[in-house]
Amino acid sequence: MELLNAIASRRAIRSYKKTSVEDSKIEQILKAGCSAPIGKSLYDHLRITVVQNQEILRSISEGLKANMHVDFDPMYNAPVLILISSKQMPFPNIEFADAGCIMQNMMLEATEQGLGSVVIWGSSMVVNAVPDLKKALLIPDDYTAVSGIVVGYAEEAVEAKELTLSIHVDRI
Ligand SMILES: Cc1cc2nc3c(=O)[nH]c(=O)nc-3n(C[C@H](O)[C@H](O)[C@H](O)COP(=O)(O)O)c2cc1C
Repeated sequence: MELLNAIASRRAIRSYKKTSVEDSKIEQILKAGCSAPIGKSLYDHLRITVVQNQEILRSISEGLKANMHVDFDPMYNAPVLILISSKQMPFPNIEFADAGCIMQNMMLEATEQGLGSVVIWGSSMVVNAVPDLKKALLIPDDYTAVSGIVVGYAEEAVEAKELTLSIHVDRI
């Protein structure tokens, strides 16, 4: 898939089939994520956690549901959650930029693999708030979950985006 085509085709997918995602596809998605630009090359300050355990996915989803006061599954029944965690960084907020770059690379590769994806911002807050959950996810105490994406086969295709300047741009 050509780059701009992949960028346009990556849409926030909010309905997933139960079908599990092939390990080979997850592997490629992880490689794309690990190839993202990382501030100061602090790779050892970051961790990626792939969650496919149904019970843990349900716990995170229930936590999100309670936080968001919603009745639907805020992870849209997706079979895979990929969380990014980080150690304390030497520069403020750099972990959020790192996570953004990693997540975008992973979502573009998911698109390339015929999969849907979406950022689930609050997933990290639920994980950080529940020590047993963090432990079950093997996230060490000195790491904090930053954000996550879900990945899976989309229930319905979503139209590609038109490549437009949807954000205000000044050219000086
Ligand atoms: C930082 C960030 C947090 C987001 N959090 C959520 C979320 O928690 N749940 C959700 O359904 N979508 C979430 N999204 C998806 C956006 O709502 C979506 O990307 C936006 O509406 C644009 O649509 P598109 O992705 O189809 O281009 C998030 C996106 C970003 C970049």
